[in-house]
Amino acid sequence: MSSRKGLVVDRGGALCAELHALELQDWDFQVVPSLDAARRTLAAGSASVGLVVFDSVSSWLEREIEALIAHHDIEWIALLGQGLLRSGAVPASTLRLFHDFHSMPLDRERLQFSLGHAYGKVQFCSRESEPPQVGGRYGMTGTSPKMLQLYRQLDKVVAVDAPVLIGGESGSGKELVAHAIHQHSARAHGPFIAMNCGAIAPSLIHSELFGYERGAFTGATQRKVGNIEAASGGVLFLDEIGDLPLDLQASLLRFLQEKMITRVGSTERVKVNVRVIAATHVDLARAVADGRFRQDLYYRLNVLHLHVPPLRERREDIPRLAEAVFADNRHQKSSQVKGFSSEAVRTMVDYPWPGNVRELVNRVQQAMIMSEHKFITAADLGLPSAEGEVVAPTLEELRASVEREVIETSLRKYRNNVSETARQLGISRVTLYRMIDRLKIIL
Ligand SMILES: Nc1ncnc2c1ncn2[C@@H]1O[C@H](COP(=O)(O)OP(=O)(O)O)[C@@H](O)[C@H]1O
Ligand SMILES: [Mg+2]
Repeated sequence: MSSRKGLVVDRGGALCAELHALELQDWDFQVVPSLDAARRTLAAGSASVGLVVFDSVSSWLEREIEALIAHHDIEWIALLGQGLLRSGAVPASTLRLFHDFHSMPLDRERLQFSLGHAYGKVQFCSRESEPPQVGGRYGMTGTSPKMLQLYRQLDKVVAVDAPVLIGGESGSGKELVAHAIHQHSARAHGPFIAMNCGAIAPSLIHSELFGYERGAFTGATQRKVGNIEAASGGVLFLDEIGDLPLDLQASLLRFLQEKMITRVGSTERVKVNVRVIAATHVDLARAVADGRFRQDLYYRLNVLHLHVPPLRERREDIPRLAEAVFADNRHQKSSQVKGFSSEAVRTMVDYPWPGNVRELVNRVQQAMIMSEHKFITAADLGLPSAEGEVVAPTLEELRASVEREVIETSLRKYRNNVSETARQLGISRVTLYRMIDRLKIIL
């Protein structure tokens, strides 16, 4: 019974007849003439193993093969026309992309075994490459005590409708937390409007927040709904709230108290029902103390406070986070990259991550594309390896190596004549013998 599906990419059609003649048990092959056709078949797909035929007609480009292999989680076997291997027509770097390769004439038994092995590997690894078990909640990865505490706080925050202030370093996941609150609250079906107060010119923030009427100012050719109004029924996320200029802090406070807005150029007051979630990487309490942030607004925003811990305070989450990023990006990676080396994982766990999860995401994505290894190394991540560093020699070791060098050179020069060598070095024969002994110099 043919139960295993294989795909044969054979431009010339030379080997496929031979393959059929072998009558391999359990296998059903579909033959396609091009890599494009292979891609289409695989997209539809049930094939677990792909065979690519290389002969004088089918000379594939390495990067074409690489792109094909990279995008499909199946195993590949190369079938090489007679003499092709010896002629070097297929470079080793191409062959390395394959699970195995066979030269003509095909050996039925070996091919059957090779196919079986590839099939088993696909079955096993596809189970492994399923998204890692949910190691977290609210769309976040992490099971460290600090993350568990954050989830417990979120359980409470999503059940109510009060403003939230989220603190935490840049890249630690504040925006993700804001999204989680929106998605798990009664406002999930309403909009989520995000605005970065630090990224908008101060002169524009007012109209971005409150909107304007047509003709309100030069250039206002039509009415624009502000972000507060656009978030009606949902959530307004104000990122980097600490960057909001003082005059706008007053306007925002008025809105939070009255739940009404007035568009620029209008006198009409519009009632808006919005939950405000603000985030900041600076210490707002300190900004209040320094007079840079209004105390009354701070209290209005800070009804519920969440703190997202920096990554270095939840190192136990790092391996799983790295795996999650890898799984999310597996369709955009160099084909031979299969995962992380244990050295890379240990290095990641030790690294202080000043840019937090955002930095981890960036480093892993970059390494997945650029690495030339099967398992990503610390160097691929741009991190100094935590292991195997060259230990600087001690002064004692340095002195011994210099002494050995000088004595050996002199001994060679005086043909191992110890008296001559000692005289030239300005030491006694006894001292020289002692040094030869200590430095284990062979005469
Ligand atoms: N706990 C987490 N699990 C998974 N991904 C996370 C987690 N925390 C942050 N990220 C990811 O890290 C990146 C930065 O997060 P973000 O919420 O923008 O940080 P912040 O707003 O604090 O600067 C995003 O790609 C986000 O999806
Ligand atoms: Mg952010």
